[in-house]
Amino acid sequence: MRTLLSEADLNEGVEKLASKIDDHYGDRPLTVIAIMTGSLVLFADLIRRLSMPQRVGVVQASSYRTGTTSGELHVDSAMMIDVKGRDVLLVDDIFDTGKTLDRLCGMMHDFGASSVRTAVLLQKRTEHIVNMRPDFVAFEIPDEFVVGYGLDYLDMYRNLPYLAILEPVEIAATAAELET
Ligand code: IMP
Ligand code: MG
Repeated sequence: MRTLLSEADLNEGVEKLASKIDDHYGDRPLTVIAIMTGSLVLFADLIRRLSMPQRVGVVQASSYRTGTTSGELHVDSAMMIDVKGRDVLLVDDIFDTGKTLDRLCGMMHDFGASSVRTAVLLQKRTEHIVNMRPDFVAFEIPDEFVVGYGLDYLDMYRNLPYLAILEPVEIAATAAELET
């Protein structure tokens, strides 16, 4: 595994991300929603650095990926909190094709949010298939498959405190190991 962003890099990036969000909202109350499960680690670090009063909730999204490529998106909003008339910030780990955030922004508007913005740790330099772009981005990264700091392959590696590129041989080895 090749480290792309160290623990120190991530700390600095999240600190700057929080500052950008603070500058934008000031003291306005914010409803901050974690897109599970990938944003888990970022979310915990981010909300503790934001200064405004917050309501915090979660929504589950999974892309039924085959291997490492994007698949059909499934959203479970059973644990959502009320966002009607609220300023909402959606937090996700990575903006890849953009389908996840695009869909969830639409859902928040459907639920009656008065504004919806998005924050991500990573934006991949790749072809995004939607028109929207995240409002707040900590890092732009090359089009590689990455794990750690919340991001997974087959639900593994989320606990790594750094971000690493998972090479194709390691992807194959992880899949094989989980099958046995
Ligand atoms: P999108 O809908 O294609 O933008 O993909 C967003 C979701 O795909 C993220 O929330 C991640 O769960 C997952 N994803 C995309 N790229 C990667 C990656 O490089 N490593 C791990 N998960 C990824
Ligand atoms: Mg995810």
